[in-house]
Amino acid sequence: MNTILVLLAVLFACLTEGKLTREGHCYDDNDLQNYKHFVGKHAWNNYPSFYMVKELEQLESGGNRQRRQTRHSCPNLVASSIQQVTEDHNSRSISPWRYRIDVDENRLPMKLAFAECLCSGCIDVRTGRETDAVNSVTVNQTMMVLRRKQCSDQKTYAFQVEYIKVPVACTCVLPKSHY
Ligand SMILES: *[C@@H]1O[C@H](CO)[C@@H](O)[C@H](O)[C@H]1NC(C)=O
Repeated sequence: MNTILVLLAVLFACLTEGKLTREGHCYDDNDLQNYKHFVGKHAWNNYPSFYMVKELEQLESGGNRQRRQTRHSCPNLVASSIQQVTEDHNSRSISPWRYRIDVDENRLPMKLAFAECLCSGCIDVRTGRETDAVNSVTVNQTMMVLRRKQCSDQKTYAFQVEYIKVPVACTCVLPKSHY
């Protein structure tokens, strides 16, 4: 449904804006200032990978640093440190993950939140420590984005629809050798 709306919006934008060349429609920097007219106002608003970016940037720039410190390594959830676990699923999971902002200047949206697993194994709920008997893997969502390519005049840009795999969370799975 969203994809159809986005495609209609792209088509509409192509018909009404930009310059038609052999490469397709080429847009200049002024057109790019507000990319919303390429994709429709609400196209990506339902994707956490999109709307979480703003939240993550606010966290990184200070504010709630104590409350939601982002971890970069596999946590050791021994009883004494259990308070460090926040209400968020990414830190309560036995395959905990963090979010990093992926920046690609030739993609719309330029910034997306990518999930990264903190452990290669998972947290054993009895010991609170990592166990290699099971594996953390990312759960991926396919998402439509627009890929920006420079036109031959070196000044304007054309756009192509592209589908990318976005890691949105981590889950705990048995190793393949179990089957
Ligand atoms: C998601 O993609 C990653 C990287 O390509 C892959 O290793 C992982 O197995 C995928 N997750 C699932 C659940 O298929």
